[in-house]
Amino acid sequence: MTLDALASKYRAAIAAAVDEAALEDVRVGAMGKQGEISLKMRELGKMSPEERQVMGPALNALKDEIASALAAKKAGLADAALDERLRSEWLDVTLPARGRPAGTIHPVSQVTEEVAAIFADMGFAVAEGPRIETDWYNFDALNIPGHHPARAEMDTFYMQRAEGDNRPPNVLRTHTSPVQIRSMEAQGAPIRIICPGGVYRADYDQTHTPMFHQVEGLAIDKNISMANLKWTLEEFFSAFFGTKVKTRFRASHFPFTEPSAEVDIQCSWEGGTVKVGEGDGWLEVLGSGMVHPKVLAAGGIDPEVYQGFAFGMGIDRIAMLKYGIPDLRAFFESDLRWLRHYGFASLDVPTLHGGLSR
Ligand code: DAH
Repeated sequence: MTLDALASKYRAAIAAAVDEAALEDVRVGAMGKQGEISLKMRELGKMSPEERQVMGPALNALKDEIASALAAKKAGLADAALDERLRSEWLDVTLPARGRPAGTIHPVSQVTEEVAAIFADMGFAVAEGPRIETDWYNFDALNIPGHHPARAEMDTFYMQRAEGDNRPPNVLRTHTSPVQIRSMEAQGAPIRIICPGGVYRADYDQTHTPMFHQVEGLAIDKNISMANLKWTLEEFFSAFFGTKVKTRFRASHFPFTEPSAEVDIQCSWEGGTVKVGEGDGWLEVLGSGMVHPKVLAAGGIDPEVYQGFAFGMGIDRIAMLKYGIPDLRAFFESDLRWLRHYGFASLDVPTLHGGLSR
């Protein structure tokens, strides 16, 4: 083939290549090891010097022309490929996002956070303890010895011991009070803590479930009195219900406090619904008192130097009151319709400044 024929053959082939792969085939056909132009270059060696003087420059010129045509076409194809990607892979970032099913925060979790936020503001830290407790922490250390009627009244769930193990069985804690003892042991006095968490009793009706939630409060120092307890509780209930709430203390008895009081909050009963913080009705919400000296001693704190108040309150119960939830059992049935209705958005984080609830 003449050089002119070769030149027009490859000009046409380069122009016709539709993508980079086709162009590469053209390059190999012309300039690869066995390419037509490469073979022509090799023939130069066999020519007479006169022939070579004519053919040499002509072949080099052809080679250069085809090489630069290939390079130009290659750049053009790459640009076209990029343009095509930019056109086809375009994304409309202004479109609304696809919806995702969102869960809700359970009222117990929400109210626990609310309680913690309010008490944190008064200097109380959150302490936790195990739900499986020894009978020492759940009973004896709290001044409830083996024969004490309070043990029988608690409807306790007992764990099983291995055969031949004669230690008293562990229990599912019947209240959060054992965390008082654990916290005294762990940090000594002074103490200001609340202890929220699940507790267990064998009981089931509209206001009782075998597992429910309490929050314990404990403040120990050198000059703590019932007056501090009353102020703390009124401050708490007023913040929690978002309105000034009065409390009424009734003398009572608990083994772990002396004196002991049951605490009622002010409320009104109108048309079957309870309104907290108004009216002349009273609603019992917690047990409390001054920590019994034997309990302080069991926790390793000297009752001659320190004293303190304690209280225990049902979290589920105050959640029902605040959010108008009629049946406790529904809390633990995992009914999605109930959870969507009474649950909270995950971004409704309760804080004192941001607001405690919807
Ligand atoms: N532990 C008691 C209960 O579960 C509640 C309670 C009463 C806790 C008085 C206290 C307290 O800390 O002082 O019924």
